[in-house]
Amino acid sequence: MNPIVGKVFLVLCGSLLVAGAPNTCGKLDLKTDPFTCCTIPKLLDVTIVSSCFEKFPIDKDAADKGAASMPKTECMSECILNSTGIYNRRGDVDEKKLNSVFTDSLPANSPWLNVVRKAIKECTAKADKKDKEFQKDVADQKKTTPKGTQVCNPEASFLVDCIHTTVFSDCPTNLRSTSTECDAIWNFLKNCPFSALRQ
Ligand SMILES: *[C@@H]1O[C@H](CO)[C@@H](O)[C@H](O)[C@H]1NC(C)=O
Repeated sequence: MNPIVGKVFLVLCGSLLVAGAPNTCGKLDLKTDPFTCCTIPKLLDVTIVSSCFEKFPIDKDAADKGAASMPKTECMSECILNSTGIYNRRGDVDEKKLNSVFTDSLPANSPWLNVVRKAIKECTAKADKKDKEFQKDVADQKKTTPKGTQVCNPEASFLVDCIHTTVFSDCPTNLRSTSTECDAIWNFLKNCPFSALRQ
């Protein structure tokens, strides 16, 4: 084989391998906000969410730079779980309360009821598995942040995020938009987690 053709062949094979690998959950080039593809109901009390947002505003610029402002998102979510009583006084998740808070605003015949219940089940199971990781994160934050900085458990953000994105991913078929971009999103979500959409 001509050496140049050989080199091109190798490079091509290399990039094919990369493209075909589990890398399929890599960045999807989106112009559409995924949430326009399915309007999920408001699951949390708007008054509580806004009051927690005011107490723990998310600084978008800092968030883009990385970890520094993450505790704020975590504290905002923790504030939501505290205010709704999902976290009991000991800071443990009250599963009954979690279910009622997330489903109380839905009418009894809502197609979302089962979707939300299933999401809560899946997400609490996932959060339980990650408990050690969350504890370690809290311990690390205590070590690395200045004394007096409020430290929050990432579990709260994980739960709020997981429930919303799971509900979205399980959007009932008859409530889905079917534009080309939305179809690409629904296909992507068959194999990839929602978090991969937002990279
Ligand atoms: C949530 O409640 C716990 C326990 O009462 C408290 O320690 C924590 O600081 C509260 N978190 C927020 C973000 O207010």
